[in-house]
Amino acid sequence: MKRKFDTLIVTGGAGFIGSNFIRYLFEKAGFEGKVINLDALTYAGNLESTEDIFRRFGGKRYFFEKADIGDRPSVEAIFGKYKPDAVVHLAAESHVDRSILGPEAFIRTNVMGTFTLLDVARNAWKDRNDVLFHHVSTDEVFGSLGDSGYFSEDTSYDPRSPYSASKASSDHLVMAYHHTYGLPITLSNCSNNYGPNQFPEKLVPLMILNMLEGKPLPVYGDGKNIRDWLFVEDHNSAVWAIMRDGESGRSYNIGGENEWENIKLLDCLIELVAEASGTPPAQFRSLVHYVKDRPGHDRRYAIDCSRLKKELGWKQEHSFDSGLRLTVGWYLANKPWCDRVRSGAYRNWLEENYTAR
Ligand code: NAD
Ligand code: DAU
Repeated sequence: MKRKFDTLIVTGGAGFIGSNFIRYLFEKAGFEGKVINLDALTYAGNLESTEDIFRRFGGKRYFFEKADIGDRPSVEAIFGKYKPDAVVHLAAESHVDRSILGPEAFIRTNVMGTFTLLDVARNAWKDRNDVLFHHVSTDEVFGSLGDSGYFSEDTSYDPRSPYSASKASSDHLVMAYHHTYGLPITLSNCSNNYGPNQFPEKLVPLMILNMLEGKPLPVYGDGKNIRDWLFVEDHNSAVWAIMRDGESGRSYNIGGENEWENIKLLDCLIELVAEASGTPPAQFRSLVHYVKDRPGHDRRYAIDCSRLKKELGWKQEHSFDSGLRLTVGWYLANKPWCDRVRSGAYRNWLEENYTAR
């Protein structure tokens, strides 16, 4: 099918996956149109993450608009100003631990914000079929697996945290806007991403930075929860493939086919950070610290992404070893970025909540 787009709104483009998606569009996807990064710049959004793109394309093919996706007049004005033919919706509250401590922001942004964005798109794109709303979602909407089995696109929704419940609601709204109003949509549910520019509250960057700073490495519960890990650029190439070639009204699972127990992943990270920083691994191992489990901690996620592979010919390009090495190298070389994003409110939040465990 190969849809073509002239003007894309990327919501959440100052966050981890969104900033990498914008870079992927300009550097690898061969996209020749305009990108509007629509982001509220919450604690997780940082314009530094797209500074290189701004320097090269700013005012010509790259534009930034600071706005909350739930603020209807602002979103309408941005649609009116740029007349986009596609939205890639990544903006969200994304951290499970935060959703347990304060669910309200997750309902506001992930549910109400997605609703507002959908409704503005529906009004702006009345009767058009040459447009697309792509919704970026998570495998967490499917709940938790036992020792065997995989999530497929037909798995029933069974969200268990306020984060996953809010993402499940947003997925249902996206599908409802397609079925009820005919809005052209595609949807993807992806597993755990890792890579450059990830906010250091998530497992991989948190562990790397704590090692470098000689802080405890907090492992939740018995450390045997399993996640499926995918390098962020492979997620973004999948989203782009779905946007170009995916069937409207359908969802696609994206995964790394790369399952790891948290404690084993931590062991790999310890080896890599030790090698890169010239530190004996035993020094980092002595920092491993088992802490109280996350309430409602999902045990295992695993993805069957055969629809995406068979129908759209997508595959993962990065091995776990090369992706993790690249990620560790990036965090070692970008300590000032980490210090800036962690300054202020977040540091206080982390210290309060980590010491409470
Ligand atoms: P992130 O927390 O790094 O970034 C989120 C971005 O959204 C930030 O730039 C933030 O400023 C912006 N934002 C938040 N609330 C907003 C609002 N109300 N209006 C406008 N902008 C707002 O998140 P991420 O890890 O990059 O995740 C991006 C998307 O991908 C999310 O929808 C998430 O659910 C989904 N996802 C993430 C993963 C993962 O492993 N990180 C995996 C699967 C799916
Ligand atoms: O599966 C996709 C999801 O992956 C995305 O939808 C979410 O936005 C993203 O945050 C991520 O959710 P997780 O909860 O799996 O990611 P997190 O990095 O918070 O945790 C990964 C695993 O590591 C999980 O089993 C909890 C555990 N963990 C996490 C932290 C932060 C620890 O053991 N210690 C920690 O300090």
